[in-house]
Amino acid sequence: MEPRVREFTAALLDDLLTCEGCDLLHDFAAQLPSLVIGELIGIPPARREAFLAWTSALISANPHKSWDQNPFESIYAEFATLLDERRSKREADLMSALLDAELDGQRLSQEELLGFCFLLVVGGNDTTTNLIANGLVLLARHPDARAALRDDEALIPGAVEEMLRIEAPTQALPRIATRAFEMHGHTIEAGDEVSLVWAAANHDERRFAEPERFDVRRSPNPHLALGHGVHFCMGAHLARLEGRVAIEEILRRAPDYELAEEPVWLPSAWARAYRGVPAQLLP
Ligand code: HEM
Repeated sequence: MEPRVREFTAALLDDLLTCEGCDLLHDFAAQLPSLVIGELIGIPPARREAFLAWTSALISANPHKSWDQNPFESIYAEFATLLDERRSKREADLMSALLDAELDGQRLSQEELLGFCFLLVVGGNDTTTNLIANGLVLLARHPDARAALRDDEALIPGAVEEMLRIEAPTQALPRIATRAFEMHGHTIEAGDEVSLVWAAANHDERRFAEPERFDVRRSPNPHLALGHGVHFCMGAHLARLEGRVAIEEILRRAPDYELAEEPVWLPSAWARAYRGVPAQLLP
């Protein structure tokens, strides 16, 4: 998908380079993953903004606030309609492929189809957005690193890993222990609810020398930003591709971009996300 990702990135940058008061998060970092995942799954371009709004509502979810419109329900309802359309006419997209997928004579149930589409759109949108936006802020704050990447693009894949480590877009996810075990002197019982705080692991000084230092040459970099084990991120290759291409293209076309103001973190139980990244792009 690299040529297509680059095409989307270039078109977004064409607009960004002529816009006044632009925002690197909303006008760029949020748009790219939504274009890519939307095309992959088969979300019609006209419905993309609606999906973006629903997934943003999910990540800033506040358990004390009730929704006017429940984004879970909206996403499921929209996918049910789109899957129905594909049932009568297949397209060249993942939704159509999932409808035809068969293993040992078994097809996916409607619940599985909806759940998987939901997981892809939620897992693939905001996470990648925050990788790109958080990464661009890190580079703005580390001019030496930015200059090094501009001079040598071969450093960019390693820099993307360091961005994932230091500002992990998914900070933590919950589990229920299936058996008792001991860790760091604590016992966790079967049935206990635990939070896997990937972000804390990524800043563990027992694994990373000077964990608070943003080092684009860090190697090895065994971070956990994309999970671990059987549930390791299924979109890891795509996320890394989008992150790399976004940074490459920005550094080729607007290497001297400047933050217009200090970005502010969004309150969220599990996402590392800015509210916005107002910036000045200087071609
Ligand atoms: C920088 C971007 C991304 C980050 C930080 C990220 C993070 C993660 C993490 C931490 C997990 C593990 C979840 C767990 O163990 O409970 C995961 C799983 C997953 N991710 Fe990503 N992800 C990213 C991008 C994507 C993209 C682009 C897609 C889709 C194309 C995607 C699809 C998935 C799916 C389907 C799973 C579940 C895998 C399973 O349970 O077997 N992710 N991701």
